[in-house]
This record gives sequence, structure tokens and C-alpha cells, in this order.
Amino acid sequence: MTTSYDVMWTEKYRPKVLDNLKGHKDIIVRFKGFVQRNNLPHLLLAGPPGTGKTTALLALANDLFGRNNVIRNLLELNASNDRGIDTIRTKVKEFARTSPFGGAPFKIICLDEADSLTTAAQHALRRTMERYVRTSRFVLICNYSSKIIEPIQSRCAIFRFKPLKEKDMSDFLHHICNSETIAYDKEGIDTILYISEGDLRKAINILQATAASGKSIEKTTILRTIGHADPEKTRNMLNYALNGDFYTARDALQHLILEYGLSGSDVAYQIYRELPILSISDTKKLKIMEYLAEVDFRISEGASGNIQLTAFLAKLVNESTIKE
Ligand SMILES: Nc1ncnc2c1ncn2[C@@H]1O[C@H](COP(=O)(O)OP(=O)(O)O)[C@@H](O)[C@H]1O
Ligand SMILES: [Mg+2]
Repeated sequence: MTTSYDVMWTEKYRPKVLDNLKGHKDIIVRFKGFVQRNNLPHLLLAGPPGTGKTTALLALANDLFGRNNVIRNLLELNASNDRGIDTIRTKVKEFARTSPFGGAPFKIICLDEADSLTTAAQHALRRTMERYVRTSRFVLICNYSSKIIEPIQSRCAIFRFKPLKEKDMSDFLHHICNSETIAYDKEGIDTILYISEGDLRKAINILQATAASGKSIEKTTILRTIGHADPEKTRNMLNYALNGDFYTARDALQHLILEYGLSGSDVAYQIYRELPILSISDTKKLKIMEYLAEVDFRISEGASGNIQLTAFLAKLVNESTIKE
């Protein structure tokens, strides 16, 4: 395979069959059961972005219908694009009118971002689901199952997708690097994992953006490509403050805000990510976490990020004088 930047790697490397999905072992086993029995309940797939919900649904449809019949037997709708429940109902009606293709026992209607539908629209959707249950199964995809009304939840088998494990993400990224013959090192892959927090779509996009700028996959090239501050800079800032050096800590904060253009809440979030790995006692971490939550709240209410975070650093400096 030659290196290609014109196609999205998220599409190029999207697994086509259930066997090639990473992680989600329990879910895959149950999906394979549906394929074996050639039957399917309505499904509700819930979980954070980039964890394989759409991929799993497409692979399931592929395995159920066979590659050639998928297009005719699967209708993909996006609840937030296909404006309004009326549009959705019209499309469903049109699609469900004809019988399943290639001897399949049913068609699949997939409604992505179902949690963007209003409660009223969801009630209308529930009635639609009932009307077409003889010929169609509905697969609803969402980030939060709690945003789906109870009468729909109780009609669906619910599958919860969790953020992917670092090992699974890292295997996938290695596979892409090798197929595209791009140079990488371990620290580069680790940096992508740190930034993408279990979201494989985000990880693949960072990989492609860095490779497309002609760079090998290393910490510095990645951070430069996506304009992300080195997590170490945040860690250093905290350590200066914890060692009682207020002015150096404050300079480090200014650097993060001015050099990297981070907002106050960006910096607060980075501190939140770094806190668990600082070498201080748990008691101190808990206290600092409380300060941080207060700062984060004030910033979200409109207070100046710069002043709030400087005050936060001042508190850490005070902490540093307390003996444990
Ligand atoms: N569990 C997974 N196994 C393999 N690839 C995955 C997995 N999760 C995400 N991906 C990859 O990340 C991208 C986004 O996946 P997608 O299924 O669209 O995520 P979601 O629908 O949960 O937001 C795709 O390119 C896909 O190949
Ligand atoms: Mg999706």
C-alpha cells in the first residue's frame, strides 16, 4: 500500500467485519449471535465519540446482509442533519415500503445522534418504530443513553461503548503507520494517545494530519501540527508553584496562554489531566482538586481565566509551605 493523504484514514482503515474491531469483546460476541440467528432486536448503541459505534453497526449490517446487499438494506440517517422528525418519518416510510433485498428477514434503519432529537420527536419516533417493526429494525446511536426517552430504551437492547484501551488504540495506530510506511517512535504514539483520550477517530486524524505535513510521528511534530501545548509545560508550572516559586510558575502560565493561545478553561483542563501524576500526597491532590473545581466554575461563569489561574498558583505556593 502506498501512502495516501487524499482519502481520510478514518474511512480507509475502518474495519468492515465484526472480527476486525478493536476492544468491545462482549458486544462483538452478542452481535455475532445476532448474525448467527439471522435476527435482531432494536438496538441502542451509546458511548463517547470515536469508540466504534458506527463501525460496529456497519460491520454488523455487512455480516448480516453480505457486502452486496448492505446498501439496499441499510438506511443511515443523522438525527441532527435530517432536520425534524417529519423528514425522518418520510425517509423511513419510503425505505420500509419495499421488502428487504436478497432474502434478508428485515432491513436496518440507523439513526445516528439520536440524542439530539427532542422528547416530542422521540415519541413520534417510537410510534414509527412500532409501525415498521415487521420489516425493519431500528438502531439508535447516541452519546448519552439517558437522553433517550424510557419507552424507546425499553424497546431496545442497549449496548454501552467505553473509551478504547490504550493498547487497542496503539495497535491500530501502529498498523496504520506500517501500512502507510511512515516513521514513528513510541513517544509519538504515546503523545497521540494522551491527547485523544480513548477517541480513536481523533487519534487517527492527528496521525494523518502530522504525516500529511511530511513529518515523522514524534512528540514535537505532533504537538506543533495540532497546536497543542506540551503536557510537560503544565506539569512544570504546577511543580514550580508546589516548590514555592510563584514568579516562575506565573511566567509558565503566561507562556501557556500567550504562546499556545490556550483559554483559561483549556489550562484548567490540562491541570486536571496532570494532577493525578504529580508526585505529591493524595491529601494534597484532593485539596488542589477542590481549588481547581472552584477556578473552573468561576471561569465558566465569566471570571478572568488569567486572574483565577494566577490565584490558583498562589494557593499552591501557600500549600508548599505547609508541612505534611
Ligand atoms: N473499536 C474500534 N475498532 C476499530 N476501529 C475503530 C474502533 N473505534 C473507532 N474506530 C475507528 O475510529 C473511527 C471512528 O469510528 P466510529 O465507529 O465512526 O466512532 P463512533 O461512531 O463511536 O463515533 C473509524 O475510522 C474507525 O475505524
Ligand atoms: Mg458515529
